[in-house]
Formats: sequence, structure tokens, C-alpha cells
Amino acid sequence: MDVRILDTTLRDGEQTPGVSLTPDEKLRIAIKLDELGVDVIEAGSAITSEGEREGIKKVVSEGLSAEICSFARAVKGDVDSALDCGVDSVHLVVPTSDLHIKHKLRKTREEVKNLAIETTKYAVDQGLLVELSAEDSTRSDFEYLTQLFREGIDAGAKRICACDTVGMLTPEKAYDFYGRLSQLGVPLSVHCHNDFGLAVANSLSGLRAGAGQAHVTVNGIGERAGNASLEETVMALYSLYQVKTSINFEMLYEISRMVARITGVHIQPNKAIVGENAFAHESGIHADGVIKKAETYEPITPELVGHKRRFVMGKHVGSHIIRKRIQEMGLRVDDEKFQQIFSRIKALGDMGKCVTDVDLQAITEDVLGLMSEKVVELDELTIVSGNKVTPTASVKLNIDSNEVLEAGIGIGPVDAAIVAIRKSIKDFADIELEEYHVDAITGGTDALIDVVVKLKHDGNIVTARSTQPDIIMASVEAYIGGINKILSSKFVKKIKEGDL
Ligand code: KIV
Ligand code: ZN
Repeated sequence: MDVRILDTTLRDGEQTPGVSLTPDEKLRIAIKLDELGVDVIEAGSAITSEGEREGIKKVVSEGLSAEICSFARAVKGDVDSALDCGVDSVHLVVPTSDLHIKHKLRKTREEVKNLAIETTKYAVDQGLLVELSAEDSTRSDFEYLTQLFREGIDAGAKRICACDTVGMLTPEKAYDFYGRLSQLGVPLSVHCHNDFGLAVANSLSGLRAGAGQAHVTVNGIGERAGNASLEETVMALYSLYQVKTSINFEMLYEISRMVARITGVHIQPNKAIVGENAFAHESGIHADGVIKKAETYEPITPELVGHKRRFVMGKHVGSHIIRKRIQEMGLRVDDEKFQQIFSRIKALGDMGKCVTDVDLQAITEDVLGLMSEKVVELDELTIVSGNKVTPTASVKLNIDSNEVLEAGIGIGPVDAAIVAIRKSIKDFADIELEEYHVDAITGGTDALIDVVVKLKHDGNIVTARSTQPDIIMASVEAYIGGINKILSSKFVKKIKEGDL
């Protein structure tokens, strides 16, 4: 392993405006970070609050492989709180720029240095590993900064970290700055903020110049424009610099989603590595290239980072991709029918719409005259759910003009409804729910919910979708829509006759 990763999603990442994690949320993220393989987890700042200490203690007591670290100022009370949580190390931070020393702390350089040294000694005496860190180091007097680090190392600090607190470095300056600090003879960390969008580039430069550890956050969350992103840093190290880390790349997409969900900080679609569009192709030329050889328009495979390739059928789509998707749906069309389908997709593109797989299936079935009959219709649905209640659903369905009543229980109201419907149709077909995907289209608790289901029957997969304000109704409608596609006599007959 060439570069160590200190993940600070739970400390600097949590400083993202509007983000506050509960102790259990911290624990869930820490467990995932450990599975991901980070070397150090900065779990929080123990002095902050009772809840913060509870979160750090939970992380510590999980017995993870990663080193567990707490942020601490050069204040004995901060170190005591960290000790109380049982962490392995402290990220002991003092500001080193005159701007911070004079205007924020209203102290002198000498006072700050003495505090740093005293607190380092104290923490080391208590058995903690100290990573001594300089805040706003990139706007500090270099002589003062290196003197403080030297004395800190003499006092027992085992690692040092220089923070580019407001993202002032450029890759060239980072190379020079971290290169000179790496001469101090202890492991050095880069800690770069993204105010000018250079956090990852600066981190890479610092690492190339001799730093051995990168401070990063999942999705690059953090104060203002955030920190260097974990996924971008480790993938650039691996793919562009052939430098190893201990990260299990195939978990990157999963952890990115998890952190976005828990923190509520959504990922921009064009975010490198983990964004929804990171491996999406729309233009005909690109899609055609990718189908023939993925490297034409993909620098790494989506599978490497646990993501998926997606072809988007919008205005720029090419005929190759449409043909391929139709084939993958198990449908066959002649050239004339294909032209009709293709023109309808282009017309939708001109209206500013992108066609999903479900839309394409509906258009194709329409052109082929296969629109499903409504074999199953929902007459009534009753759900009982709540605290300390087993979620229960009862349904009244009209199946081929017969009334069928069923009930089911599940792990949630949606699951209970699906169980009840599945029981109602068991005499007609054994239909498995292969995939269930839910998205909130708009923000807020009154968001429109978009549900896409994939159902499997006799080795065939059908996709169905529903968009509604109510997640239970959207799920039930999508599920029944899929069942109708499967049970529709035309569909079944065509499958049996080998026409599909
Ligand atoms: O960016 C920074 O300066 C920091 C320190 C407070 C450690 O996160
Ligand atoms: Zn920071």
C-alpha cells in the first residue's frame, strides 16, 4: 500500500452546512468506511457534545480494523474527551497563519506554539497517537510552521498534517509546499479544501511530492465547497498514477449513495466516479463506441467502482442503442417498425424528454400492438402500519372478472401490499419481484415518488413504473402494471408462439 487514507466524513464532512449525524448514523457510516478499507476514521470531535461522544464511543466499541481518531484543539479538555471515548489517536489542530492566530485566537505565535507542544506532550503521555495538524497552514509563515512541526515531533507527534483550509493551493504550489514539509522526517498528511475546485488535484500533487496520507471525505462533502473527495482521490491514484491504497473500489458507489442518503447532501449527476451520469452515454457516436469497446468513452469500467453503465435515450441517441435495448427486452422488430419506434423517441427528445427503458418498452409494445390488457385491477387496498404494529395489507382485486380478497404482512407497508397481491395471483402465475427502485422526483415530504419494478416470470423480465405522491400506491400500481404485462393474453400467447 503506497498512500494511506484518513477519512474525515464524520468530522469535516459533518461540518457541511445543514448536516448533523446521530450516533447511530455515525456508526453505520463508520462500519461501511471500515469495510471500504480506509486506514483512519476521524469519527468526530469528542469535545463537541454528549451525542458526539456517544457516536464516537459506538464507533470505538465496534472493534473496527481502522484506527479511530478524534479531532482535538490544543486544549487539555479536548484531549480528555477524546480519551474518555477510547479513541486510538487525536488529530490535534492549531491554527498557524497570523490571520487565524491574531484575529481568531487573539494570541501570539509563541503562545500558539507552546499550546501545541504542551497538548501534544499531554496526549502522548496519555497513550494517544498524535497527528499534529496546522490549520490554514498554506497562508502561514513557512519558518514558523516548520518550527512548530519540529517541536511537535520532538514532543512525540507521530504524524503531521498541513491543512489548506480555504483551498488556496494550486497543484504547482502544493507540490512545492508538501515536498518541503515531507523533509521533516515523519509521515505527512495532505488536507485540501475545494474552494477553487482543486482539492483533489492539490492532494495528488502533495502526495506525489512525498506526503503519505490523504484526508478525504466521501462525495467530497465538507465546509463550503467541501474537501477532497475520497472516491476521486483513490481512483485517480490508482488509474492515473498507479499508486495503491487499501480501498475496495467496488464499494465506492454504494458508500457514496449511503452517505448521500444519510446526510441529505445529494450528488450532482456529473460528479466523477459516483455521479449518476459518470457512466451514462447518450450521443449515438459515444453509445455506439461503448457498445463496440467500452474503453472508447470510459476511462475505467463502472463495475470497478460498483457503478452501472447506462444508455440514455434522448435527442442524441443513435439507432444502435435503441436496437440493442429492444433486443435485451426480448422483443423483435422489423426495419419498418423500428423506424416508427426510432422516430417516436426522437420526437420525444425534441420535446426535451428522455426516454427510459420502461417508456421504450411501452412504445415498442404499442408499435407491435402488444399493449397489455388489464387482467388484474385493484379495487381496494387497506394498510395498517405504525409503531409496534406488524405492517399488514388487505387487497381486493378484480382478476379476470373474479373478485379475489387477500391479506399479507411484511417488513413495511409496501412489502405487506406486495405480499398480499402476490398471494392473490398465485393461481395464475408465480411472479418474482426481481428489482424495486424508488426515487423522489421532487423535494420535500410531498415529493412525487417514482417507482420502477422488474418482475420475473418464466425466465422473462418485465419492467413497469408508476409515479405518484404516495409511495405505497406508486409501488402497488407499478407491481400490478408489471403483472398485467405478464398475464396479458396477447403477451403470453406471443411468448408461447415464439413471436417475442
Ligand atoms: O481544513 C481545516 O483546516 C481543518 C482543520 C480544522 C483540521 O479541517
Ligand atoms: Zn478541513
